[in-house]
Amino acid sequence: MSSGSRRASQFQQEREDEAPQWIPGLGMDKPRPRTLGTSFFGYVPDAFAEKTPYLPSERTPATTPGKADKEATAPSSEQGDQSSSLNGQREMDASSDEGVVTEELVVPRRVRPMVAEPWDDNTAEVSAQNRLLIKGGRVVNDDMMQDADVYIEDGVIKQVGLNLHTPGGTRVVEAKGHLVMPGGIDTHTHMQLPFMGTFAVDDFYTGTRAALAGGTTMIMDFAIPQRGESLVEAYHRWRTWADPKVCCDYALHVGVTWWSDKVAEEMEELTDQHGINSFKMFMAYKDTWQLGDEDLMKAFKTCKELCALAQVHAENGDIIKENSKKMLSLGITGPEGHELSRPEEVEAEATNRACVLANQVGCPLYICKVMSKSAAAALGQNLRRGTLVWGETIVAALGTDGSHYYNPCWQHAAGHVMSPPLRNDPRTPNLLMELLNVGDLQTTGTDNCTFSASQKAIGKDDFTKIPNGVNGVEDRMSVIWEKGVVSGKMDPCRFVAVTSTNAAKIFNIYPKKGRIAVGSDADIVVWNPHATRVISAKTHHQAVDFNIFEGMEVHGIADYVICHGRVVVEEGEVRAVSGMGKFVPTPANCPHVYGRVQERDRVNSPQKVERSPYDGPVIQLNGQGRSPVQEGNIMAVSQETFYTRGPTRSGGVNLHDSSFHVSGAQVNDKSPKRPSVKVNNPPGGRTSGSFW
Ligand code: URP
Ligand code: ZN
Repeated sequence: MSSGSRRASQFQQEREDEAPQWIPGLGMDKPRPRTLGTSFFGYVPDAFAEKTPYLPSERTPATTPGKADKEATAPSSEQGDQSSSLNGQREMDASSDEGVVTEELVVPRRVRPMVAEPWDDNTAEVSAQNRLLIKGGRVVNDDMMQDADVYIEDGVIKQVGLNLHTPGGTRVVEAKGHLVMPGGIDTHTHMQLPFMGTFAVDDFYTGTRAALAGGTTMIMDFAIPQRGESLVEAYHRWRTWADPKVCCDYALHVGVTWWSDKVAEEMEELTDQHGINSFKMFMAYKDTWQLGDEDLMKAFKTCKELCALAQVHAENGDIIKENSKKMLSLGITGPEGHELSRPEEVEAEATNRACVLANQVGCPLYICKVMSKSAAAALGQNLRRGTLVWGETIVAALGTDGSHYYNPCWQHAAGHVMSPPLRNDPRTPNLLMELLNVGDLQTTGTDNCTFSASQKAIGKDDFTKIPNGVNGVEDRMSVIWEKGVVSGKMDPCRFVAVTSTNAAKIFNIYPKKGRIAVGSDADIVVWNPHATRVISAKTHHQAVDFNIFEGMEVHGIADYVICHGRVVVEEGEVRAVSGMGKFVPTPANCPHVYGRVQERDRVNSPQKVERSPYDGPVIQLNGQGRSPVQEGNIMAVSQETFYTRGPTRSGGVNLHDSSFHVSGAQVNDKSPKRPSVKVNNPPGGRTSGSFW
């Protein structure tokens, strides 16, 4: 028996002897009898009490009751193999660069980038038959908390409830005093991204292993083609990089960094054949990835046609380019120049513009990494105007701020350089957290894109050359727990919503991901809300040599992490196997995103006004389509031309004359302005919102 199972069965025995106790600080400190809890809308008897381990349709030779009974008393040789595999751990040699490991016992220390042995399909087969019971914890979903055990088989949750019937020999993870939550989904990462002349140092192996260490069981990365490059080829390149290395599941968003008909065709191919349902357009990074408004509109239109979600990096790249030149000309070459050249309004303007442009074509929009109060306000205004827009923020913006750009240590300041930048206003993290709680923002990613000091130093004399990006994939769950739940801003359900469920819904993988329920993937974090740790680059699992949360003490630790039903973190120790994760296709036409679009299109479709045709005189245009008299580009018309009817007898304007003129002259400049008359109920009804 492995030490883990020994511990687990010992805990199981203890648990049966003891009354459950609960979690201080969450209003649960008194021991309570274990009862089925209530949902927000009231008591749901047996809501989680799925006690049918073997549905006839699910029976396989390995899971027939007869076989299960046999396995209960005598573990199969496969199980034996597996446990020896799980426990045949090798400790990594931190001083060695080889670092080729499979099932390693990772002591908390920094790990160098390495090539890990690939995930073995035979091992996968053994793992798939793994049976696991998470016992005695409190299950937390985005909408309810419930004392319940969770039984897992073949990587899928099979039962949730109390007094479950499980086959003997099932491994037990004792979760007393723990919260059992869906594994985190990080909506925004850039593992090994080729960027600004170098590659992000955390690759799909170190990055996803670090994700697991912190309780994240799925990342969403970006395949970003260079200008002129095929989107489909970029997608395949990212798959080739990721598939052999990922330790947790992953999905891809695809970048649209240039525009042509071919790009539109490839977007269609990606949604139809490759499981891509979101495309990201950059409003910054002028001369490389930036799209102008016209191309942005075309990309939004195409997303809408494909029922895909449009994402934007919202910053005005034109302004940033000018501001950067100005800073350098003033002799500001250090990291503070990065923040000074990208003020909040530059982010807010692009956020608003993206909302307006997307709304004009009726395309649902997702704003990546909202970093500032002003951008969040712009998003909120558009949301309340009826724009279909969702907002993501990142843990860097929730856990730290832009004061670091002014740190006298260049390396420290450069370690925080990312775009949009962290904001210098210390109120920002709290505000963004409040907005996550109330629902103006829905998801949390990290924008994890790490560069070590020597890489950042490419920009030692010019801040515009500092590779942009920071860490976060490992610490996102703990920092959000600390700043959100421990601070009293959100409850554990909301924590689940913003760390996994909302992402699963928006990207159309719910309830496979983002929920603890029968049939969902067994991607689970067993969260210890009491335990604390101090974040440090010296102990983190990421490959980067810097951590923007250095020294922060956080409550909330992923004691166990289960990915595909397999225990990959056990009491804080990471057992990561490269290639164990899977690519998760994200289907287009997500009901949570596109469910409202058709109705909106119908309700808001422009209506033609039926009227009898105009039968009055029409002026003659000359050959160029212009009226005969012009001044510059503005049409000038004589008094006679402007007024088609003569003056009244007293010499006044004939009120039957239109104030609109085909020449372009809209008003008679010679007459004083009249106060405008607001027509509340114009004939034909009012228009509201945009015309989709
Ligand atoms: O600073 C950042 N965010 N670097 C990665 C590229 C991007 O903007 O997403
Ligand atoms: Zn990014």
